[in-house]
Amino acid sequence: MNSKSPRKVRKAVFPVAGLGTRFLPATKVIPKEMLTVVDKPVIQYAVEEAIEAGIEHFVFVTGRGKGAIEDHFDLAYELEATLKARGKSAEFEMLKASRPLAGAASFVRQQEPLGLGHAVWCARDIVGDEPFALALPDMLIHGRRGCFAQMIDVYSRHGGNIIAVEEVPHEHVNRYGVVALAGDMGHETFRITGMVEKPKVEEAPSDLIISGRYILQPEIFAKLATQKPGAGGEIQLTDAMIALMGEQDFFSYRFEGTTYDCGDKVGYLAANVALALDRPDIEPKFRPLLDKLVKK
Ligand code: G1P
Repeated sequence: MNSKSPRKVRKAVFPVAGLGTRFLPATKVIPKEMLTVVDKPVIQYAVEEAIEAGIEHFVFVTGRGKGAIEDHFDLAYELEATLKARGKSAEFEMLKASRPLAGAASFVRQQEPLGLGHAVWCARDIVGDEPFALALPDMLIHGRRGCFAQMIDVYSRHGGNIIAVEEVPHEHVNRYGVVALAGDMGHETFRITGMVEKPKVEEAPSDLIISGRYILQPEIFAKLATQKPGAGGEIQLTDAMIALMGEQDFFSYRFEGTTYDCGDKVGYLAANVALALDRPDIEPKFRPLLDKLVKK
């Protein structure tokens, strides 16, 4: 336990520059982060998770053709004024609740697809010298309480860098960053002793993968600045975290919730089904239909 309480996490970074080629033709014009799960864009789930955790500033690392994301998190004046005038207060409040305040969202372009590490590095000037949350929005985490809110609890106990992890079938570990752990700190928290990005299945140190939610200290930016390309020829965040592990604490946290990889068609479809079944306004009509389809 740190003697002084760790610095507050006020900002969250969302890398959203990916081309979304796996979802063509849907993503020819529409950013993949704007594809909807039930009735909400994928990116909004991650932003709402950050809002729930008390995040105050939202940094989007975008690219060309991602303007819809910027518009989505802006005030839609005509729409909101019309909803208000027509007395549609529930819809009005819903839009308002997930829209950052004026000046509380920043957009920066990655320019070149050089990897996740490079995307995060592009946020350095906006984040500045303070800890920040990082969400990979493709990984939609659904649960009673948001993953970031749970992670902030861990962070307030231990400080340092916190990485959300979960167990996957052994044969899938080569698709992810994988952690090696030691030292049980209680509350599903362990000290991280090693990490490897996209290991061979037979070389993976565990079946615990990096789930796309991080709380990181700003010293990561200096590591990213000189990070050489790693797995897949890309500048990897995991490699920069390994470099920082020599100087700072890294803790893993096994969160409560279910992850749906919305960067993959099957994961995306599963997210739609699971979240629709969790909606009291949709489930009664949807479940019988789904049962019928499944029995075919
Ligand atoms: C990235 C990270 C990886 C993590 C994964 C989660 O990989 O580099 O460590 O496990 O996200 O989705 P990517 O999916 O960008 O290849």
